[in-house]
Amino acid sequence: MKTTLKLKIILALCHLFPFLLFGQSAMIHIDGRERTSLNGLWETIIDPFDAGSGDWAAYYKDRKPLGNTDFVESSFEGGPQLYVPGDFNSQLPELYYYESSVWYKRTFKIQATENKRSFIHFAAVNYKAEVYLNGVKIGEHEGGFTPFQFEVTDHLRIGNNNVIVKANNQRIQDGIPGLGFDWFNYGGITRDVDLIQTPTTYIKDYFIQLAQQDENSIEGYVTLDGPKKEQAIAINIPELNFTYKTRTDSSGKAKLKIPFRKKTLWTPAAPKLYEVQVSTETDHIQEQIGFRTIKVDGTNILLNGKSMFLKGINIHEEVPQRRSRAYSESDYQMLLDWAKELGCNYVRLVHYPHHEKMVKMAEQMGLMVWEELPIYQGINFADPGMKKKMNLMLRELIARDKNRAATIIWSLSNETYSSPARDSSLIALYHLAKSLDNTRLVTSAFNNMRFEGNKAYIEDEVNRVMDIMAINQYLGWYKTWPDADKEVEWISKFHKPLIFSEFGGEAVFGNNIDPKRASSWSEDYLVDIYKRQFNMFKNISFLRGVTPWLLVDFRSPGRAHPTYQKGWNRKGLLSDRGEKKKVWYLVADYFKNN
Ligand code: GCU
Repeated sequence: MKTTLKLKIILALCHLFPFLLFGQSAMIHIDGRERTSLNGLWETIIDPFDAGSGDWAAYYKDRKPLGNTDFVESSFEGGPQLYVPGDFNSQLPELYYYESSVWYKRTFKIQATENKRSFIHFAAVNYKAEVYLNGVKIGEHEGGFTPFQFEVTDHLRIGNNNVIVKANNQRIQDGIPGLGFDWFNYGGITRDVDLIQTPTTYIKDYFIQLAQQDENSIEGYVTLDGPKKEQAIAINIPELNFTYKTRTDSSGKAKLKIPFRKKTLWTPAAPKLYEVQVSTETDHIQEQIGFRTIKVDGTNILLNGKSMFLKGINIHEEVPQRRSRAYSESDYQMLLDWAKELGCNYVRLVHYPHHEKMVKMAEQMGLMVWEELPIYQGINFADPGMKKKMNLMLRELIARDKNRAATIIWSLSNETYSSPARDSSLIALYHLAKSLDNTRLVTSAFNNMRFEGNKAYIEDEVNRVMDIMAINQYLGWYKTWPDADKEVEWISKFHKPLIFSEFGGEAVFGNNIDPKRASSWSEDYLVDIYKRQFNMFKNISFLRGVTPWLLVDFRSPGRAHPTYQKGWNRKGLLSDRGEKKKVWYLVADYFKNN
């Protein structure tokens, strides 16, 4: 049977059974595409019992009563409307702690679409999404913080189209994250939705970064998707008078290894970005890309060959004043401006991939970025489905941000504990990350150091594989100082750089009752913790970065002290209203003078 006929049959099957189209890997850099935003008010049906998926209710069919004897017990019309992007918890009082399904509906008009392909692209939906177009299921996705898309070329109709999304934020045993985590479980269509149109053969993916073993060359690839796979392609950087031409092969891919000498490297002090244009016979895209190298040399971290010390801050993707998930450029600007004002040269975006917008803004502002998967604490590594989910999330994150010079670290997990399943999973994930992208460092944040008197031992064997060691330690808060006078001594089994990825404690802004007791949540108690921490840092020769936990108080239902917490984790250097606690000034001073 001729391949074209076979191909046509396979394509037909795909269209006949659209549910085969599970979350397709999303195209990158949608800012550079022909797109129609579907942001705005969507009609919704709140579905706490998840009844809408069944044949009887079938909310996705959006049925209307026709004859006199007809009745339908649901309707988007007349129901609550919710803003997209935006978590649903913060939009209606009855959704404050809601953890179940909300159905969203948006109608959009389509003119002619000849010689175009159409996709619906979601920047994120937390936690599971089912997507229907004009009553037909076009796919589903699991994972609350990475983009996904579905091709709808053959499902669209000229005139009005209805896209219906079921978003469900229930915490699940085999989820990533799992059932328990220390942040608020904001659900819904939390990031942008776009209808994207491309040529029939389009530039789906490209990786254009400096080769890590040779900073005088660009390494990467360009990948086309569509029938005309073999094409001439060109990469241009007008500012450098740089042009490179090549061709994609029969699979639609062109590997890049390009001499690239005269350029200014990206640094926090001078975050140089170039307009990089990728053109083919049928498509064109351009974006701002920076070039730098990041490597480990013994216990040093080298940016562009120079040893550097990471002065960072942990940031959750939340606007405390609004008590909601951050989603807009102004939200990200506020968080990143605070980080710059504090004197940071990097930000740790915890504990899940933040919006692509935030990473791009950090890059323009000269902030290096640590990005992290939500493989957090109580993950059930032994669950047979876990490996596939972890791999998919890692692929989605790296696919999205691999061209961001500012992103220097992929973090695979946070505070997981050694077991055969966990160790093998993290080691496998490390190698997958490196196979997808060898231009960044890979780590995992652990908090399982072993104390013996005033000695702290770093001995988690998974560190043998990681490029750098990351430790969350709360000496002075969760762990009392072993010795009132003698400093804690850190001893590592591995000759690698160490980053303290978390340290700190809680305090309520303006509260100074009884500063000698932790249970008073006093600011002066927290000041003493930070002073002792800074003193300890001086004695750790392989310490190459510190990251206070964290920028601003954040919501977490488990933080239940009725006077001091009220559902907030009070470890912020800033209060939930952006007020600077005393420790803010201590950290700013430490960053300025070290
Ligand atoms: C842990 C964890 C954070 C948590 C913090 C805390 O180390 O990584 O997610 O919020 O400590 O207990 O405040």
